[in-house]
Amino acid sequence: MFKYLKQYRWADMKQMIANNHAKQHQSNVSLKGKYCVLTGATSGVGWEAAKTLAANEASLILINRNREKSIEACRKIHSDFQVVCDYLIADFTRLKEVHQIADHLNGSDYQIDILINNAGVYCTTKTYTQDHLETVFCVNHLASFILTYKLIEKMKRNPSSRIIQVNSQGHRFNGLNINDINWEKRYYFGLQGYGAAKTAQLLTMWEFADLLKGSGVTINAMHPGAVKSDIGENNGPLYRWYKNHFVTRFLADPSISGQAIHYLATAPELSGLSGKYFNLTHIEKPSPHALDRELGKEIWALSKKLAGLT
Ligand SMILES: NC(=O)c1ccc[n+]([C@@H]2O[C@H](COP(=O)([O-])OP(=O)(O)OC[C@H]3O[C@@H](n4cnc5c(N)ncnc54)[C@H](OP(=O)(O)O)[C@@H]3O)[C@@H](O)[C@H]2O)c1
Repeated sequence: MFKYLKQYRWADMKQMIANNHAKQHQSNVSLKGKYCVLTGATSGVGWEAAKTLAANEASLILINRNREKSIEACRKIHSDFQVVCDYLIADFTRLKEVHQIADHLNGSDYQIDILINNAGVYCTTKTYTQDHLETVFCVNHLASFILTYKLIEKMKRNPSSRIIQVNSQGHRFNGLNINDINWEKRYYFGLQGYGAAKTAQLLTMWEFADLLKGSGVTINAMHPGAVKSDIGENNGPLYRWYKNHFVTRFLADPSISGQAIHYLATAPELSGLSGKYFNLTHIEKPSPHALDRELGKEIWALSKKLAGLT
């Protein structure tokens, strides 16, 4: 940790702390007639984003892994906000399902106005998916990479559309090693595994932003605040006890995440702004290792290969 903090300029650290306590920007822009595709909308940040977007008249397409939770989420959205709410099912540990969802969306009639890649997971121990990919890297980075990569052409037909990558200050823990993406040569620390996935997402975000230049479509990443959610609940009882007894009391209400996502999705002053990292609604400088464009190009190529994108 100390090793990583040493890379920072004092001014960057001060800015990050100031942003954590800053008054957040707000938007009251309606999304009437706009389609928002949102992943991981069954709890925490994603659920708050779904409610806030629906309260602002968006039509929602939720991409979740759990059918019962999705039915209940859409039922509640319909009944509280009377907007379109559909869902698609994909488990992001199975990249084949992510490809299928992207193909389905590409074949659908509606335009995508906002794509929010939010689904994420935190694991204290190393686990692998059926395709032998480290789970956190697969869910948090590769799945969102596939969706973004495959939906870009469709989104380009709608030049004011926006992509939001729900990232994390956790990227600052780094952990990304291009020669050991699958953690087979190193001891796995949960925070570093999470940091590796979020760093990969940021590094590829700069590449996406370059690719989208001149198209009108924007892509930005954001830290949704340190908020109460179900993240980490998949871990063992000791971690859950620690989280629920110590960590949670310092966390904010997740409604701030939903409001920040609505702001990033709609604020007129952000129109055309792309390739930025936000701490909630404030632009912030990410960690130096997440700004390494050479490494970014390598991660881009590796992500394409691992994701089966030609
Ligand atoms: N909470 C924070 O303080 C915080 C801080 C920084 C960044 N973030 C980021 O915010 C995003 C949302 O996290 P959260 O805190 O709201 O956590 P959460 O309450 O656990 O929500 C995570 C969402 O992702 C879904 N998901 C998990 N694994 C999946 C998989 N294999 N396939 C498809 N969907 C899957 C979950 O579905 P199920 O309901 O089926 O589990 C849920 O809808 C993540 O990207 C996280 O890294 C959160």
